[in-house]
Amino acid sequence: MVLWCRRALASLWQWGPGGVRRPISLSVGASGLFGSGGSHEKEKLSLQDIAELIRSRACQKVLVMVGAGISTPSGIPDFRSPGSGLYNNLQQYHIPYPEAIFELEFFFHNPKPFFKLAKELYPGNYKPNVAHYFLRLLYDKGLLLRLYTQNIDGLERVSGIHPSKLVEAHGTFASATCTVCRRSFPGEDCWADVMADRVPCCPVCNGVVKPDIVFFGEPLPQRFFLHMADFPLADLLLVLGTSLEVEPFASLSEAVRSTVPRLLINRDLVGPFAWHPRSRDVAQLGDLVRSVETLVGLLGWTEELQALVQRETGKLDGQDR
Ligand code: OAD
Ligand code: ZN
Repeated sequence: MVLWCRRALASLWQWGPGGVRRPISLSVGASGLFGSGGSHEKEKLSLQDIAELIRSRACQKVLVMVGAGISTPSGIPDFRSPGSGLYNNLQQYHIPYPEAIFELEFFFHNPKPFFKLAKELYPGNYKPNVAHYFLRLLYDKGLLLRLYTQNIDGLERVSGIHPSKLVEAHGTFASATCTVCRRSFPGEDCWADVMADRVPCCPVCNGVVKPDIVFFGEPLPQRFFLHMADFPLADLLLVLGTSLEVEPFASLSEAVRSTVPRLLINRDLVGPFAWHPRSRDVAQLGDLVRSVETLVGLLGWTEELQALVQRETGKLDGQDR
């Protein structure tokens, strides 16, 4: 199961010999891999109903899927938002087209743009926000079945959610692999080189060492396959801050049972919530922090969340000093 992007599919190019871009064709799609869903004639739900299902513990196996939109309040740009998204602001990276930054062919041609981005995103530069700490509260209360994230900023870990509850579907900077001899290294081994604008090289064979971020065309980490056990078990799905454009992650949103309520918290209606809605879907559209705060208010967790944010932010500020 490899990474691919829906919107880029029609215009996917590969970086060929002699610096020539050539179109590539893909034969495998992921959207057919998961349950078909189908609509159930059940009552329409509201955000208040979702809060009540959580608060009353009628739902105790909450699955969460997140994307870059949960980290924009921490100051990290997302990928596809018009204007502010990274893919609109790549002039500084000197790449021929946006997705090139996560393409192996281009990386082997020129790894510098990716490492420039890596330097910006390297763990430690940013702090979790209210959205991360809301998910941490779900975890603390024993309600989080698993958190599937597309983000590579590591903020879910920093927020204090145990790694066993996380699936970092698009990889992590916590480890790195030599692209030639395939030796594995702790992510920190690359840190000094990346910070000094040097391409990290393998101490054994001198090959380029790439952080274990999943590039287009690469397989997803083994942990991604936990979805096969998790999604049939879930009794509630929360989807936050993602355009659901990248597969196979996006199709997970259709892998919960068709009777399971799904809540989308995002600026706009995306993916199956737009083109294949189910009767128990709820979409809370607009600013993500405001939506999370509204939900937390309905849950009666506002003070608890504020105390958690204060405590954890204080700890992180202490580490910075
Ligand atoms: P996108 O940039 O595609 O989508 C982010 C979504 O979050 C958009 O729908 C935004 O409208 C929404 N959003 C952003 N800030 C928000 C805010 N403050 N309030 C409400 N909504 C907000 O990011 P992803 O879906 O995460 O791959 O992108 C998926 C993958 O594409 C990434 O993991 C990355 C990229 O190629 C890799 O890193 C390998
Ligand atoms: Zn090597």
